[in-house]
Amino acid sequence: MNFHRTVLLQETIDLLNVSRGQKYIDGTIGGGGHTEEILKRGGLVLGIDADPEALEFVRERLEAYVKDGRLTLVQGNFRDILKIAKEKGFAEVSGILLDLGVSSHQIDTEDRGFSYQKSGPLDMRMDPSYGFRAEDLINLAGKHELHNIFTKLGEERRSNTVVSGIIRSRRVKAIKTTEDLVGVIAEAYGLNKKNLTPMLRAKISKRIFQALRMAVNGELESLEKALSSVLLLLFSKGRVAVISFHSLEDRLVKDAFVGFSKEGLGTIFTPKPVLPASAEILENSRSKGAKLRVFERK
Ligand SMILES: C[S@@+](CC[C@H](N)C(=O)[O-])C[C@H]1O[C@@H](n2cnc3c(N)ncnc32)[C@H](O)[C@@H]1O
Repeated sequence: MNFHRTVLLQETIDLLNVSRGQKYIDGTIGGGGHTEEILKRGGLVLGIDADPEALEFVRERLEAYVKDGRLTLVQGNFRDILKIAKEKGFAEVSGILLDLGVSSHQIDTEDRGFSYQKSGPLDMRMDPSYGFRAEDLINLAGKHELHNIFTKLGEERRSNTVVSGIIRSRRVKAIKTTEDLVGVIAEAYGLNKKNLTPMLRAKISKRIFQALRMAVNGELESLEKALSSVLLLLFSKGRVAVISFHSLEDRLVKDAFVGFSKEGLGTIFTPKPVLPASAEILENSRSKGAKLRVFERK
């Protein structure tokens, strides 16, 4: 199984304008796909990821670069990018990359609880040592909180029905696994869980699972915090590149870049977001929906 299929690889690296001997921060190193390309082009990288499994994997895969000092790895959240970068000697860099969301490894690992197609505990934390799990949210959050999460982050039109189903079900027995949750959603939709095809499972569960994951990891809040710090770390003509998969994330990125530009802090390099070519989507369906935006500091 592939740890992760990197999306928009050439497009991102070209737009980051990577050059030999310069420093870069990859705030979401994942399987190290983008980072490896930066290293091959002679850059030095600070690689950050919240997930210890990603770091373990990449430490082994890119061991040679770690040994020769060109790759520094840190487990952490990119919302703390300013602090981490300063501590590691990356306070002035030529480029910063955030490739948002989850890796294929996280989705494909049952016991991380990210997937509605696999059976596992409802966890969904990027960093499994920290914070509340999806199970806690599902069983302890009030009606309004759940409704807000599903409507805002999942754009789920039937969130009232799903929330009522959750409240009814958790009164009888705690909802602990991905299977339990898919069952509750199916029941709320008036469907029999046993008859669900993978397509139907996806149709009814995708938005709810995505919303839960974003809430558990505070994904929008982390992105907002990181965006407010990135320009502080960039040299003049340094670039920040963000790949997003969710309309609210893309909106945050777009608005932040428009705000920087209005303040005269630099130039939007992608007036329209860069999307994967159809050949990439054909080869890697998970790349569908990716949007890349780049900003250059003046
Ligand atoms: C789409 S993957 C990155 C893939 C990588 N670009 C590659 O080519 O292999 C996203 C990664 O970001 C990490 N991540 C998500 N949110 C994070 C955050 N706020 N801080 C640090 N890492 C985060 C996830 O754990 C995951 O490993």
